[in-house]
Amino acid sequence: MIKFVSVDRVKPGVTLAKDIYGVDTFTGKIVMLKVGQKLTMAHITKLMGLDLQGIYINEPPVASELLTGDTKTELFHLIDELEATGTPAFLSLYKEKIEDASSILNDFVDTVLRRDDLRLSMESLDFHENLRYAHTVSTAVISIVIAKELGMSKPDMLDLTLAALIHDIGDKKLPDGLLDKPARLTEDEYEIVKTHTTHGYGILGHEDFSAISEPVKSGVLSHHERFDGSGYPNGLGGEEIPLFARIIAVADVYSALTADRPYRSAYQVSEAIEYIMGNADRQFDAIVVAAFLKIISPYPIGSCVRLSSGERAVVSKQNPENPLRPVVFLMDDPTAVIDLYHDKCFYNVVVTDLLDE
Ligand SMILES: [Fe+2]
Ligand SMILES: [Fe+2]
Repeated sequence: MIKFVSVDRVKPGVTLAKDIYGVDTFTGKIVMLKVGQKLTMAHITKLMGLDLQGIYINEPPVASELLTGDTKTELFHLIDELEATGTPAFLSLYKEKIEDASSILNDFVDTVLRRDDLRLSMESLDFHENLRYAHTVSTAVISIVIAKELGMSKPDMLDLTLAALIHDIGDKKLPDGLLDKPARLTEDEYEIVKTHTTHGYGILGHEDFSAISEPVKSGVLSHHERFDGSGYPNGLGGEEIPLFARIIAVADVYSALTADRPYRSAYQVSEAIEYIMGNADRQFDAIVVAAFLKIISPYPIGSCVRLSSGERAVVSKQNPENPLRPVVFLMDDPTAVIDLYHDKCFYNVVVTDLLDE
């Protein structure tokens, strides 16, 4: 995606998304770099000498950085193979694959831990390979970044990643075609779908999986429990619900809402975030929701947006309490800075669109 960033935040290797021209304050020369130019440290040093508010760069999606090359391919195969399991004949293969997974997960969690101030943009969660893979991986990515925000230990993060990757493994036991039904489920069908939680727990209860920890298994069992006790399969409430399950619940719902379903199109990102925010302390643990709001970034810093007032603006700062209401400056008047969350005069102004500029 195209991002507007101040020059001191630019790292070598990024490419320019727009031409740059200006006057070097020291030499008085015109300096011009063309769109597509890959910036070196020398370029960046030079740009520092220009009186620029910022520059437009192409930024690769976060998750493609998290899941590049081998990791992504390995993870894809792993999920594919996990998806193929569910019958006893596959269980030993499954066990082997879980062992293979530990090194992949280690890399994955290390990458997340290494990154400061990690926020997930919408593009970073866009996995085109297939719906199933997209849901599984985006649930895992969101879960793990929430866990980091909550200060979870690395061993626990590894377990949580595994639980998130296999949270819907029980779907394998559902009748063929039920999940792809191109219409809303009947009440009876919904009751059958609910059994994927206990089926998942049952699959993982096989002796071949004794190496998988109990928190992983109970995370899979309880990912549809809800904080107010309205979930399934056991109607647990509050902290009776294991922490892994409380985290996966938020990630799972966000991932599901923002994807197309056979019977409805995807929610807007802002609608999905509002849904999660509106259900803090109801369906979801408010502490987990607060962490989610800090790491999700529908309007990343530097992105161009349209406001309900009709003006175009650039996001200059996030408000961690509400990612839908960032601080922006107007494109036509960069001195006009508006805090859409704290500034009472602008309570009626909202971001309506992310612009592709
Ligand atoms: Fe599920
Ligand atoms: Fe799910």
